[in-house]
Amino acid sequence: MITDLNLPEIVESESQLDALLTRPSDALVDFIANREGDLIILGIAGKMGVSLGHLAVRAIERAGVRKTVYGVARFSRPESQEQLESIGVKTIQCDLLNRAAVAQLPQIKNVLFMVGRKFGTAGAASLTWAMNTIVPANVTEHFRQSSIVAFSTGCVYPLVRIGSAPNERVAPEPIGEYAQSCLGRERVFEYGSRAYGTPVCLYRLNYSIDLRYGVLHDIAEKIQCDEPVDLGVPAFNVIWQGDANTQALMCLGHCSSPANILNVTGPETLTTKDVAEQLGQWMGMPVRFTGKPSDLSYLSDSARATALFGAPSVAAEQLIRWQAHWSMMGGRSLGKPTHFTVTDGSY
Ligand SMILES: NC(=O)c1ccc[n+]([C@@H]2O[C@H](COP(=O)([O-])OP(=O)(O)OC[C@H]3O[C@@H](n4cnc5c(N)ncnc54)[C@H](OP(=O)(O)O)[C@@H]3O)[C@@H](O)[C@H]2O)c1
Repeated sequence: MITDLNLPEIVESESQLDALLTRPSDALVDFIANREGDLIILGIAGKMGVSLGHLAVRAIERAGVRKTVYGVARFSRPESQEQLESIGVKTIQCDLLNRAAVAQLPQIKNVLFMVGRKFGTAGAASLTWAMNTIVPANVTEHFRQSSIVAFSTGCVYPLVRIGSAPNERVAPEPIGEYAQSCLGRERVFEYGSRAYGTPVCLYRLNYSIDLRYGVLHDIAEKIQCDEPVDLGVPAFNVIWQGDANTQALMCLGHCSSPANILNVTGPETLTTKDVAEQLGQWMGMPVRFTGKPSDLSYLSDSARATALFGAPSVAAEQLIRWQAHWSMMGGRSLGKPTHFTVTDGSY
């Protein structure tokens, strides 16, 4: 794979990491320059949203156009609101479960929907269903005149063997209530797209990597703590969060009615064992394994996204090297494990 030649060998600080994550590509700048209307990011305060907002602001600056990026969340962590304002995002505090509050939001042409609830589903499934279906219902109702990129997950697909990653034509077969509610989220957006003619793109993501969290972070952490790496899930796909966010913004140009579907992840199928061994080598630490190896994993065929947007700018091999160094130097962790080894859908 050809990667960006301007990428550093290692990432040495959080400011360097943020700068890399939010560096707009020429294609994104060109897309933003030609896209009409402002942007609104719903659920901006999470692991991906802050860097997505920052990426959008930087792309607008480089395009030399006048556009506002609005960012909506409850801002349960007030520092994320301050950070977003300092970057140039206009923040709006709103609980999107509240239909009346959603009705007060400004009408914006380009919507990125990132709200979701996963962890804590076991034991509080009704809240997960409310977040993953009622919030989308409020949003499709209010933003019916907009284009909507709705974040979803590769977990709506069945578990598969290596070599049979599902493409967008494979029927969903979600396992467990979290994944089922994510299919519910998609179905509500599809319904809105059909009922109101709203252009929608369902963006099915498999594992974003930002070094402070993610599957590679979780495996590196096990190695660093001398804990065994679980081989229960033998394989996975990842994508650099900068590329995932770039593709999300460019999906605004691929919204349609009925809704379009796009798998978003890297082209490489990574095996847990190989990744752990590579991380261990770069980290100079021994690796121990546990877990009954299974044949089945969540995998996703992103050939369509690659045909539309080109290959991601950072190859998996580079991400592994960055992650090893980040973890060994004590780079910040969000303390939000992915639980990627869960296959029974119970989060
Ligand atoms: N990260 C990944 O690798 C990955 C992989 C597959 C799919 N996805 C999907 O991509 C999306 C974004 O991922 P993420 O990791 O950034 O998610 P996240 O960290 O869980 O962020 C979700 C955001 O939604 C906001 N939110 C939650 N409930 C809300 C409500 N009622 N009203 C307004 N805002 C609300 C949260 O902020 P407040 O609490 O402050 O409101 C937070 O900003 C999610 O839908 C997820 O399903 C992510």
